[in-house]
Amino acid sequence: MAQLWGGRFTKETDQMVYLFNASLSFDKRLYKHDIMGSIAHVTMLSHQSIISEQEKDLIIDGLNKILQDIENGYLQFTEEYEDIHSFVEAHLIDRIGDAGKKLHTGRSRNDQVALDMKLYVRDEIKETDVLLKKLLITLLQIMEEHIDTYMPGFTHMQKAQPTTLAHHIGAYFEMFKRDRARLADIFKRMNYCPLGSGALAGTTYPLDRALTAELLEFYGPTLNSMDSVSDRDYLIELLSALSTIMMHLSRFSEEIIAWNSDEYRFVEIDDAFSTGSSIMPQKKNPDIAELVRGKTGRVYGALISILTTMKGIPLAYNKDMQEDKELTFDALDQVKVCITLFEQMLKTMRFRLDKMKASATNGFTNATDAADYLVGKGVPFRDAHGIIGSLVLHCIDQKKSIDELTIDELKQFSNMFDSDIFEAISLKTCVEKRLTIGAPGYEAMKQVIELQHVYLKETFLS
Ligand code: ARG
Repeated sequence: MAQLWGGRFTKETDQMVYLFNASLSFDKRLYKHDIMGSIAHVTMLSHQSIISEQEKDLIIDGLNKILQDIENGYLQFTEEYEDIHSFVEAHLIDRIGDAGKKLHTGRSRNDQVALDMKLYVRDEIKETDVLLKKLLITLLQIMEEHIDTYMPGFTHMQKAQPTTLAHHIGAYFEMFKRDRARLADIFKRMNYCPLGSGALAGTTYPLDRALTAELLEFYGPTLNSMDSVSDRDYLIELLSALSTIMMHLSRFSEEIIAWNSDEYRFVEIDDAFSTGSSIMPQKKNPDIAELVRGKTGRVYGALISILTTMKGIPLAYNKDMQEDKELTFDALDQVKVCITLFEQMLKTMRFRLDKMKASATNGFTNATDAADYLVGKGVPFRDAHGIIGSLVLHCIDQKKSIDELTIDELKQFSNMFDSDIFEAISLKTCVEKRLTIGAPGYEAMKQVIELQHVYLKETFLS
């Protein structure tokens, strides 16, 4: 066991306690950020004449070599090191001797781990944003291709009014746009540097915290050292944003699973993104979408877990907080792979335009438009609603759609009906007359697509 703290102990740590307490098995993935933070720390220590320039150079050189050796596999993360911080420091001292012992001057593992996690999360937020942007580009392509692909819009899972595939996909475009905005907000709020907060009460060394913050590209140093080592709010916000991304992906997955079923046949998932059954030879299952839906629960779990962990922790650092890592790492891993696969599945998915159109044509999706037609002829809307209601009942009885009735049949319900009704309630008219911004009509949709192109050119995180 290579521990950083043997001095005041008279007994060896119990082996099981050691393993229970150790975090290297999972915080090893912070190695790059731990080393990056240490390089900024010693650069500042030497700038403040707390260590010499030579010592700084030796330490930085040693740290860079450790980084290289981890990356080329020469240095292995073995159980004898408690955590990534001990691992790096012990190897540094092994390699450069006494100068290495000065690395931890004016620092605690409490501000060190707070820094490492922030540096890691910052990179992950940016990566997630890149993936979301890629997904948005694919969604926009689908929207452009399907601006006049008619399909039913649903409420209560019942056909409601006709819309287009572009319009339906456009709803998800808005959701993922907000997801990106949430990530950007979190980034802005969390991007302050905790290094220099020490264990909890700062240090007596004349550290230049603004300098370390600047070297690590933070907006500035955090302003309360107790808060700095105890704050996990940004992880809670992140897990909440990740949960929302998963919720959106899960709703979308649910639709794709339904649309891919024999009952709908709106889409066909590409063979490369489907799986088969070991017993039923005919099966082609939408497993990617189902797994995305399933993993949503796991990401929600991480959010609830950290909220519960944090609620009982008095100031300042307590070891409970070590629990933040595995769940944050796992949630980020899951979200990134889900966005990536989902995007590829969408890109290769075939839309069955004939089925969508046929489905939009029946099921009385034009009933609202038929009522609006009567309103146009001077009938008050509430009366028109009643007339069309009885008409629909009649159609159900006759097993016909509204537009399959003759004008004479229609006139039995209202003498306001004229031969122009058929044009007025055609699928094309129902969609194309919906021209308010945000609606599926061609011109309105074109305008929105233009705005989405402009949006995609803006950058914050990517
Ligand atoms: N592995 C610890 C964590 O993740 C690092 C901080 C340890 N600090 C301490 N005082 N034991 O939280």
